[in-house]
Amino acid sequence: MEQDYKPVRYSQTTLTELMIPAYANFGGKIHGGILLSLMDKVAYACASKHAGNYCVTVSVENVDFLEPVEVGEMVSMYASVNYVGNTSLVIGIKVVAEDFKRGIVKHTNTSYFTMVAKDEQGKPTQVPGLILNSKEEIRRFMEALKRKDLKRTYKEELDNAKTSLKADTEQHLLETERCKVSL
Ligand SMILES: CC(C)(COP(=O)(O)OP(=O)(O)OC[C@H]1O[C@@H](n2cnc3c(N)ncnc32)[C@H](O)[C@@H]1OP(=O)(O)O)[C@@H](O)C(=O)NCCC(=O)NCCS
Repeated sequence: MEQDYKPVRYSQTTLTELMIPAYANFGGKIHGGILLSLMDKVAYACASKHAGNYCVTVSVENVDFLEPVEVGEMVSMYASVNYVGNTSLVIGIKVVAEDFKRGIVKHTNTSYFTMVAKDEQGKPTQVPGLILNSKEEIRRFMEALKRKDLKRTYKEELDNAKTSLKADTEQHLLETERCKVSL
């Protein structure tokens, strides 16, 4: 059977929402959790459209909110499939906040959601391949591969560090930290 492939544009999705006062935290800025929830929604829509199946969120990377979002701003989330594996997909999401009154547009963050497609029985199922139609789409696919590789290395190093660190003999690592050992 010939394998199924879809272009990136087929599932590109934009979600735009006005930031209302109910979304604000005690400091008057928009809760990070509200933005995360909207990002999860747009990632789901984009991934499920490409997969033609229900998808679940497995991992979220690069969530650094570089600028606060204010009440009254219009936030747009631009999502597209950056990478496909076998059953997983990486959705890149660019978040932009627009202040109409002041005519300011802020790019607040770009994050990457790894989603997995599931079949009717809830088992991971293969997703269609990805047709890359531009240099930018090729770059995003290659960057996703690199991030996957770096994540594997990071996990290995962290696991090694956890097994090799000894709280009894390596307390000198805390000397310059803002903590007090009180046993
Ligand atoms: C993610 C999940 C499907 C993995 O199931 P599994 O039986 O271990 O399946 P596999 O090991 O075959 O992994 C499936 C895919 O997920 C990817 N994956 C698994 N863990 C991952 C992680 N931590 N980060 C990125 N990708 C991951 C694998 O690389 C694989 O991708 P590929 O098929 O493209 O190569 C399963 O753990 C799950 O359903 N988790 C709950 C997800 C959920 O409900 N999310 C909603 C938030 S509450």
